[in-house]
Amino acid sequence: MRYPNLLLMFVLVATVIGCGESADPAGTPTYYGEAKAIIDTRCATCHQAGDIGPFPLTTYEEVSAVTVPVIRASIANGTMPPWQPSDDCNTFRGNIDLAPDEKGVLLAWLDGGAPEGDPADEPESSTSEETAPFAVDMSLRLPEPYTPTIEPDDHRCQLIPWPATETRFVTGSRVTPDQRSIVHHVIIFVVGPEQVAQYQAYDDAEEGPGYTCYGGPTPALSSGEMGSGPRVPEQIGSWVPGIRSTPFPAGTGIRVEPGSMLVAQMHYNTSSADPVADQSIIEIATTDSVEKEATIMQAVDFGWITNGRFGGDAMTIPAGESNVAHDTSLAFDSMLLARSRQALGLAEDAPLVLYSAGHHMHELGKSQRTELRHADASTTCLLDTPDWDFAWQGRYTFSDPITFGPGDTLWMGCTWDNSESNQPIVDGEVREPVTVAWGSGTADEMCLGGFYVTGQ
Ligand code: HEC
Repeated sequence: MRYPNLLLMFVLVATVIGCGESADPAGTPTYYGEAKAIIDTRCATCHQAGDIGPFPLTTYEEVSAVTVPVIRASIANGTMPPWQPSDDCNTFRGNIDLAPDEKGVLLAWLDGGAPEGDPADEPESSTSEETAPFAVDMSLRLPEPYTPTIEPDDHRCQLIPWPATETRFVTGSRVTPDQRSIVHHVIIFVVGPEQVAQYQAYDDAEEGPGYTCYGGPTPALSSGEMGSGPRVPEQIGSWVPGIRSTPFPAGTGIRVEPGSMLVAQMHYNTSSADPVADQSIIEIATTDSVEKEATIMQAVDFGWITNGRFGGDAMTIPAGESNVAHDTSLAFDSMLLARSRQALGLAEDAPLVLYSAGHHMHELGKSQRTELRHADASTTCLLDTPDWDFAWQGRYTFSDPITFGPGDTLWMGCTWDNSESNQPIVDGEVREPVTVAWGSGTADEMCLGGFYVTGQ
């Protein structure tokens, strides 16, 4: 009978000692002590009233309401915060992912029963990292408010006349969603004067503001119809939740001629909020000259986009197969690089400097990777998205620019899952697997890379 009493006393003493510390006796982090500061910066940016996170995570009560296993799973398997690029491949500016030590603290806190701790332990919030927003000189808006009609995902493009009457260079852009609860992402394209009539026709062909588009600035064509081919307009900006807009690298910018048109591709998602009228704001910074003109270099395979009709292999993704891979290589002297050099007024053998990368596939996409393969057989990984998610596509700026020089080859590979278990929902029903190839329709696929490049 004596042992239990001793043990009880030991526990009591330990508890009293433990009370004086911010963590509990076992060293478990607490909500106020450690977890809240991380959740505020890494989660609540989206998980707060009126934002895209489906529930708020701003107080202990709100976090507890979600339950430990659900939160733990989202952190442990890396789905939250949503950050696509693999750290094993390259490092990027503005990474919103949890740092390994932050992840460790949150998991230890959750595994310890997610104790609340003492509100007095909450560290002072620090806002020093935020830099002042960059100056813009054009403040534009979607011409008309649009209320999504296709549920849950409505991809809608609106044309915005380019206001400048002389050649300008875009040095950055910032999108401010009007209805953050439904705006999932935004991509801003610029259409040159020679293509404006075609885009105006897309707009005229459909009722209501703008037109339905998918996977790019062109209308969602039915399967098998050819899209606008490789002439994809330049992408001058995008907005993905959680990622702060930063201007293009200093001294660089993308040329826009008078008479051009902007296409704002809006992705609305109404799975956790009711459809409401949105008229998002697009602000653009421009200048009349830059040291280095930039362009978006597209990486793609001509066999794919022409479905093998003029040589090369079509990007066939057979029905029912769960692991289909296609890859392509762009040599230093290939046509797509030549086109970028031409757009930038560079010599035929001029190296290009790569600043950022974006990947693009549709809903069957599993993974995409782009890397530079050098003549000495070494490689520089540019961007790897091992777990592709159509809802979270972004453009990622490398910590340091990467030179694409003579002897280098850009390799790009994509994988798809076209099995029964990975089919999109069409008209409320899970689609039967069908053989898929390149196209701009929702039921087609793509494997496209985009890179912000300048000369050296
Ligand atoms: C960039 C915005 C954003 C950030 C940052 C973010 N979330 Fe989310 N979260 C969402 C959205 C949107 C959903 C709804 C699911 C979807 O659309 O993928 C979601 C869903 C969830 C879910 C539901 C289950 C799931 O995995 O989909 C949990 C749990 C969750 N988030 C927890 C967190 C936690 C914990 C953090 C911080 C470590 C976090 N989220 C950071 C936007 C975000």
